[in-house]
Amino acid sequence: MQTFDLFAPTERHALYARMRAEPGLCRIAPFGAYAAARYEDVRTVQKDAQRFSSEALATTAEPPWLGPNPVSQSLVTRDPPRHTQLRAMVNRAFGASGMARLEAQVRHEAQTLAEAAVHQREVDLVDAFSFVLPRNIIGRMLGLEPSTFTEFKRWSVNMGLITSAVPAQHAGIRDTVKEMEDYLGGVIAARRRQPGEDMVSDLLRAEVEGQRLTDAEVLSFLFLLLPAGMETTAQLIGNAAILLARHPEQLEQARVDRAHIPRFIEEVLRCEPPAQFAFRVATSDVELAGTPIPAGSLVMGLVGSANRDERVFEQPDVFLPGREKGSQHLSFGHGIHFCLGAQLARMEARLALEALVPRIRAMRLRSPDIEWLPGLTIHGPRTLPVEFVPA
Ligand code: HEM
Repeated sequence: MQTFDLFAPTERHALYARMRAEPGLCRIAPFGAYAAARYEDVRTVQKDAQRFSSEALATTAEPPWLGPNPVSQSLVTRDPPRHTQLRAMVNRAFGASGMARLEAQVRHEAQTLAEAAVHQREVDLVDAFSFVLPRNIIGRMLGLEPSTFTEFKRWSVNMGLITSAVPAQHAGIRDTVKEMEDYLGGVIAARRRQPGEDMVSDLLRAEVEGQRLTDAEVLSFLFLLLPAGMETTAQLIGNAAILLARHPEQLEQARVDRAHIPRFIEEVLRCEPPAQFAFRVATSDVELAGTPIPAGSLVMGLVGSANRDERVFEQPDVFLPGREKGSQHLSFGHGIHFCLGAQLARMEARLALEALVPRIRAMRLRSPDIEWLPGLTIHGPRTLPVEFVPA
């Protein structure tokens, strides 16, 4: 079995293509994980919760230097039957009617930010638009105090560092967990006393078969939701902006036909998925693609590779909105852990582009080289200096 180094300075998609051409699974050097690169195998890893556990990953959020961390108890690191119960309780808050209620708010926020960004002509699109929009939306959805929104970035960066942190970062991460516990715990207590029309109140009211979420369960859900609601959506909008700038004909098409925007976003999700892979742990000795995997092994589903598998997508490296099977990408996962916020993320990205596109005739990247986020999991621009030609 071949071992590949994901940190090697190779073009990511060339590496994925080599991995897909291997007869079975591959090994990944930095994690010692077994990696699935072909579409069918990645989908199996994502959906077969019996053989590939998410719950067994919970301990990675609680290294000895950190201790208890509410996020380790959250939905994404639970297997059935607990996952099934928790998911039923939070599903309603993310259903179609909840999203419809939010639409006017997201549109207003997107229009205000787009207006200000285009007016400046030259901006860092991440700072001015693609990060701020999802951050403000998740903050408002949860009914959090707007003056605290500026803390969210630091919190989510620190939470994202836990599995790879060096000792110099430990104290900062411990402080973040404590700060988030105090702040979000205070919000939960306040909503218990006085419920409102926000998602925290909805979660506290949610009842399935006579069961309600405890304060600790709501807290762990908020620990997951705050970064999950911001980071990935910000990367989707940032990656969409890069592709709009690099494909002026797509910008033109979106300008004359607004219905093109959702097709464009789906293709951005396929080609440049914000979450490049998902981890699981083998629950017993199992076999996938003819490769034996010992119980307890770390298994990776390489979503960025699956979405470009030539067995499923014709000419997979060509950016082609509206392509056949275009929405069958695995960027929001598959099966029981399918992204709870997928509808919200798609709506935010659509309304972001609906706000931006009519205001501009062109958008130029001020440097041809993108400064990407460090790390391998989350894929998107760290900064994105652009220049607009207003419409
Ligand atoms: C789960 C991607 C936006 C909340 C997931 C998973 C993926 C994903 C791949 C599955 C993880 C796994 O299988 O282990 C994305 C992408 C987004 C996005 C690419 C944006 C483009 C959001 C938003 C929210 C959200 C906006 C909430 C406000 C969640 C939650 C889960 C999840 C709660 C856990 C679901 C479960 O375990 O049952 N997301 N996500 N996501 N996502 Fe998202």
